[in-house]
Amino acid sequence: MRLIFKLGKNPLLSIAEIYSLMQSKDIKFEVIKANNSIFFINLQSPIYADILIKILGGVLEIFRVEDIIDFKEAKKVKPKYKVNIDNETFAYGDIIAKQDIKDFEKKEIQKPYVEGKNGMVPSKLAKIMVNLAVGTNTTTIYDPYCGTGSILIEALLQGYNVIGTDINPEVIEGCKKNLNWVSKEYGVENKSELFVNNAASLAEQLVREKETIAISTEPYLGSAWSKPVQKNVRNTKTIAHVDKLIISSIRSLSKILKNKERLVIMIPSFKTKHDIIYLKARDMEFGSLKKISIIPEDLIFNDKKVGDIKSFLYYREKAIVRREIFIFEKI
Ligand SMILES: C[S@@+](CC[C@H](N)C(=O)[O-])C[C@H]1O[C@@H](n2cnc3c(N)ncnc32)[C@H](O)[C@@H]1O
Repeated sequence: MRLIFKLGKNPLLSIAEIYSLMQSKDIKFEVIKANNSIFFINLQSPIYADILIKILGGVLEIFRVEDIIDFKEAKKVKPKYKVNIDNETFAYGDIIAKQDIKDFEKKEIQKPYVEGKNGMVPSKLAKIMVNLAVGTNTTTIYDPYCGTGSILIEALLQGYNVIGTDINPEVIEGCKKNLNWVSKEYGVENKSELFVNNAASLAEQLVREKETIAISTEPYLGSAWSKPVQKNVRNTKTIAHVDKLIISSIRSLSKILKNKERLVIMIPSFKTKHDIIYLKARDMEFGSLKKISIIPEDLIFNDKKVGDIKSFLYYREKAIVRREIFIFEKI
């Protein structure tokens, strides 16, 4: 079965998401073509595209390929039945599944608890964050900076147990409301546990010998930055605090993880008028937690080998805070 995944705005991140999800479900495939807009693969066994598209956050459409045609033949075919592979060759077939944008909006707008100060992870990105973290045996997704619960909502919808902690008791109450809402609205079991905790220190109840945990999180970013960051004393202090918090959190979260379990974390960097402020956390090593790339180094992407990818930038034009996603695996 040949399929083309039409990719969202962050193509390498979308490809990493597909690799991770396929590995977690033990689905084998070969890559035919990968570039900024498509990921063309051959699958050994059929899949349910309508289910897959609901799980993935970074794929706009799934196209089933019936034939490969040349430029001349493609001219006779309506746009919806063809996909451009390399300007000379086209895939002929049909769209078999489309991303449900209205459903993303529904979750972002209709959930009862919304919090303006700290920012919210968009649903698309929350799905990607879950899919990058899961392994074959994952039972539980943990978000140590859960906020309104965007990541936990997507994990619950995929049937995982979820654990959320946050330093703010009000936020925990709000997050509970959101998970109850999603459970009722979508008819999924609310298998959640939420409590107050400082992510920089490890709570005993988080050590789960019998569960296979995946941690996925967007940590505290210091503020809702709306203008290019000025390098004044206050901002420098805030950014240093965020950096220290992230470093302590990674160290303490590392103690919860067992062999092969992952921590997926967004490490922010901050745009000033002229440059970008990076955190120390970004380039640090964390002992038995190793950064992994998920995408094979020899994948040909845009006609070049991708090589060793250390992080994925989730790009949003005009955003002051750049979200860089790192995937750590415990060895
Ligand atoms: C950027 S928000 C997370 C957003 C969340 N992913 C969402 O989509 O709603 C960061 C959260 O970190 C929490 N926070 C700040 N410092 C913390 C700490 N030391 N430990 C745990 N949570 C903390 C804040 O209360 C806030 O809810």
